[in-house]
Amino acid sequence: MKNPVTRVCLVGAGRAGNVHANSLTHHLPNASLAAVVDTSAGARDAMGDAFGIDPGSRFASLEQAMESAHFEAVVITTPTFTHAALAVTAAKARKHVFLEKPMALNLAECDAIIASAAQAGVLLQLGFMRRFDPEFSAAAQRIQAGEIGQPMMVKSLTHGPGLPPPWARDLRTSNGALAEVNSHDWDTVRWLMGSNYERVYVEVANFKGPANHVDTPHFYDNALVSIRFENGGLGSISGICPCQYGYDARVEIVGEEGIMQIGKLQGQAVWVCTNRDQGLITPIYRTWPERFAWGYINEMAHFIHCIQKGEGPAVGGVDGRWAVAGVLAGTRSFLEERPVKLSEILTD
Ligand SMILES: NC(=O)c1ccc[n+]([C@@H]2O[C@H](COP(=O)([O-])OP(=O)(O)OC[C@H]3O[C@@H](n4cnc5c(N)ncnc54)[C@H](O)[C@@H]3O)[C@@H](O)[C@H]2O)c1
Repeated sequence: MKNPVTRVCLVGAGRAGNVHANSLTHHLPNASLAAVVDTSAGARDAMGDAFGIDPGSRFASLEQAMESAHFEAVVITTPTFTHAALAVTAAKARKHVFLEKPMALNLAECDAIIASAAQAGVLLQLGFMRRFDPEFSAAAQRIQAGEIGQPMMVKSLTHGPGLPPPWARDLRTSNGALAEVNSHDWDTVRWLMGSNYERVYVEVANFKGPANHVDTPHFYDNALVSIRFENGGLGSISGICPCQYGYDARVEIVGEEGIMQIGKLQGQAVWVCTNRDQGLITPIYRTWPERFAWGYINEMAHFIHCIQKGEGPAVGGVDGRWAVAGVLAGTRSFLEERPVKLSEILTD
């Protein structure tokens, strides 16, 4: 019997879209990139040309693609403020949905996405690729096996090199860097602690905005989050973007019986020392596609596997919703200069 091939329509042919197009085209024999949607003709043609998508399968809207092309699933990689409308439209048309983080702008949008997918009986997977990174998933398994005992404190950092695009640094269109840069950390700390957030306190700072001519209201490029979890555990998240020195994503978990660290800044095991430099030089990670190359491939493989086997995804709408709740509590915390209980956000 021929192996099934799941046809995917990619919506949003930008930075993240190209990473997923690469996984679908070059790494997953049981999937095909059947169509691309982007409101920008330049972006959809660039992706179409790069990944061999027929010119007749490049569309300006999801509605047009659903009318003219055949596919079972969508991968949504558009800016956050478009997520809810696109995910709900796709789910109502019975397309399985892979949705990039941050899930949406607010909890009402998250609820609409979750309800649409549940009513249509389609899969909803969130783009938290760190859960599929070999190092992060090995650590999670070892924590769950009890190797360091009950986690007491989890500290996660993401420092990224470049200034995010304008929509991604504006609270109104993205919820800012706490969402755009640190969504992965919100998910990671909750996943590894095995508990939901109860209270958060956030301080932010703006070091490089003026030099980068950023006049977006409430812009910040540094954020430090303190978290109390429902199970009594503590957590922290640090976000810096742009940080200039490279791409840095690391986690430390301290348990009652040990400590575990995930990740390193060093991107290669090559070290060089010359008379000229008088010091050790080693390549570091420069970009997120490079650092999480396997995470992106594995998460897409998981999505296709779950569709074909009728299984539920390891990371779904509830996880995406909690990360959004954390971001909303964190944003309220720095705007109002006080700790914020999640109960305030969940009952809004
Ligand atoms: N998982 C990760 O590590 C990761 C990394 C980067 C970005 N992302 C997420 O991916 C999403 C996109 O980010 P990006 O950096 O790729 O953005 P981007 O700006 O590079 O690309 C977005 C693309 O979407 C298109 N678009 C906008 N509105 C659209 C619509 N209504 N229909 C179709 N196309 C539309 C734009 O023309 C653009 O080509 C965001 O949610 C972001 O947070 C995730």
